[in-house]
Amino acid sequence: MQINGTEYRSVWFEQGRLKMIDQNLLPFEFGIKEFSSYMEVAAAIREMTVRGAPAIGAAGAYGIALAALCSPDEKFRTYLRNAREELLSTRPTAIDLSNGVNYVYESTIKFIPDFPHARQVAVLAAQEYAHKSEMDCLELGIVGSALIQDGFRILTHCNAGALATVDHGTALSVIRQAHKQGKNIFVYVDETRPRFQGARLTAFELQQEGIPHAIITDSAAGFYFWKKEIDIVITGADRICLNGDIANKIGTYEKAVLAQVHKVPFYVAAPKSTFDLTCAKGEDIPIEIRDEDEIKRFNGNWLANPSSAALNPAFDITPESLITGIITSSGIFAAKEAAQRV
Ligand code: MRU
Repeated sequence: MQINGTEYRSVWFEQGRLKMIDQNLLPFEFGIKEFSSYMEVAAAIREMTVRGAPAIGAAGAYGIALAALCSPDEKFRTYLRNAREELLSTRPTAIDLSNGVNYVYESTIKFIPDFPHARQVAVLAAQEYAHKSEMDCLELGIVGSALIQDGFRILTHCNAGALATVDHGTALSVIRQAHKQGKNIFVYVDETRPRFQGARLTAFELQQEGIPHAIITDSAAGFYFWKKEIDIVITGADRICLNGDIANKIGTYEKAVLAQVHKVPFYVAAPKSTFDLTCAKGEDIPIEIRDEDEIKRFNGNWLANPSSAALNPAFDITPESLITGIITSSGIFAAKEAAQRV
């Protein structure tokens, strides 16, 4: 992704350290953080320095690589096991996290007790995971761009952009490609309470790419559907089940209901790492519940009655019946069939 004219990825590995764009600072400040232990990476995922399903998958993969680099030989297996548990405990909903962590973990432990080799494999496996994830996102954008016609007004929710992935994005990869092809498009960006990933991050990415857009409050989408000003909805996903149900950022489900009522197509764009072939249906997906402070305060200022409780589920489930299709690098499939086809 281009940020102020320089090419970046959301996470990358350099000279034995993991680097990340600090997404909590954007768009007001731009900063890069460096990590040299898996504990620091776990904290960064928990605090959402890095967020977005494929991006935390890559961060988790690099977290295991850092564990392999830091571990003493005699404790290698236990150290890696602890790292895996700690990284997996950070955020429960996005399956990409366990795909990234487990890919590097499984690749590495095969080489015990050849420790120098195991360490080298850990770094290479993490780099391979991140590279594949990046390419998958690029390709799904090219595939999905066929759905976007000149003049389309697109609604997206949360940040399914380059920042939420290693690069390119999921829903925003489709939008980027359509824009690159010279299609005249306009994007409605849901602000995405309570952490404002839409208003802060999606709006920032679209502005950096010169893609026409406007931020709307989460509750304004219905008004634009009613005005017939939305031609297509594209979101990302944090987990896709065998039956085609998906989990994505809280508020996605109601956009899918609105889309169906208004006969507007609702698409989900996702890399292969977001499919969970062990998860039968939406009810089986663990939903992350975050701190009520995220709703009640912003940057330390109270936004709500301090002594009231607040409920903060970070994701919701959209049933396959509301999804027109799932955009993947292998093609666009009916939600029901997507897990079998990717
Ligand atoms: O809580 P976040 O910001 O990690 O949630 C991110 C989303 O829900 C995205 O829409 C999602 O990861 C899918 S697209 C990369």
